[in-house]
Amino acid sequence: MKTIGVLTSGGDAPGMNAAIRAVVRAGIENGLTVYGIRRGYNGLMEDDMYQMDLRSVSDIINRGGTILYSARSKRFMTEEGMQAAVRTCREKGIDGIVVIGGDGSFRGARDLSLHGVPCIAIPGTIDNDIACCDRTIGFDTAMNTVVEMVDRIRDTTESHDRCAVVEVMGRGAGYLVLGAGIACGATSILMPEVPFDFERDVIERMKRTQRSKKVHFVIMVSEAIGGVHDMAKRIQEETGVESRATVLGHVQRGGHPTAADRILASRLGYHAVELLLAGASNRVVATQKDKILDFDIYEALNMTKSIDTNLYKMAMEISI
Ligand code: F6P
Repeated sequence: MKTIGVLTSGGDAPGMNAAIRAVVRAGIENGLTVYGIRRGYNGLMEDDMYQMDLRSVSDIINRGGTILYSARSKRFMTEEGMQAAVRTCREKGIDGIVVIGGDGSFRGARDLSLHGVPCIAIPGTIDNDIACCDRTIGFDTAMNTVVEMVDRIRDTTESHDRCAVVEVMGRGAGYLVLGAGIACGATSILMPEVPFDFERDVIERMKRTQRSKKVHFVIMVSEAIGGVHDMAKRIQEETGVESRATVLGHVQRGGHPTAADRILASRLGYHAVELLLAGASNRVVATQKDKILDFDIYEALNMTKSIDTNLYKMAMEISI
């Protein structure tokens, strides 16, 4: 192992830069040449990369986004795209690649490993939907961003005795809305993993709390459920509480990573390089109960992770 590449792929997540920094520094300190590959797998297919040095990653541990840029590539899913990527690796003498991204990016890393280019994947997504990993890079920051935004919405909701219906990202998973919903004390949290009845779980809950003199409300809804504008209308009609809908959108993907995300990203990036140096391929690095582990990518993609329904139950009991 003499030369490695690092790329970020899929939706960006705060903390990806801290992971790039760890990979670059750990690689160089261990005598490797490190290429920064731009725009995910596109940069690999199109040979869009540059050799990084220790200072290429200065002052990025605190920055959101990714200095390598990110993309979702359809071409890379074709055999022709894969061959182009393998060709670039041969021409550049790349012996291994660290891929930072979500499960779509992991599939690419697994396929590339099967084509003879050793890959190590690092979970980077605000959705926290990677089963082998307790926390993905970016989740903590995004959750804190949601909390900050909802706190602001709450200020104005309180001033006007209103109900705020807020849509939260997470793709098909409810980790972000559940975590932020608990931290914001949302009256109702709607997410794909917990079946709900709008009348019972939103309208009736609101009416019940109205009877205990509550006059302003926050309802948090996963993007997988959506429909926040219609929900706000229905709430206003059925409860008489003036309601407004907010779709938080991509504000959730930006901003400075939290300390937790910076530390997680540094640990995972460092371990990814250790694995490449040890001759590993087709592995995902992860944390479970604060321990650093690694798994076969194929196995990791087939693992399932479930929402802690006790957390949901607790939230519903104490946010009334
Ligand atoms: O996977 C991260 C994520 O932000 C999801 O929460 C969201 O559904 C999706 O990406 C949005 O993707 P895009 O930035 O392509 O609109």
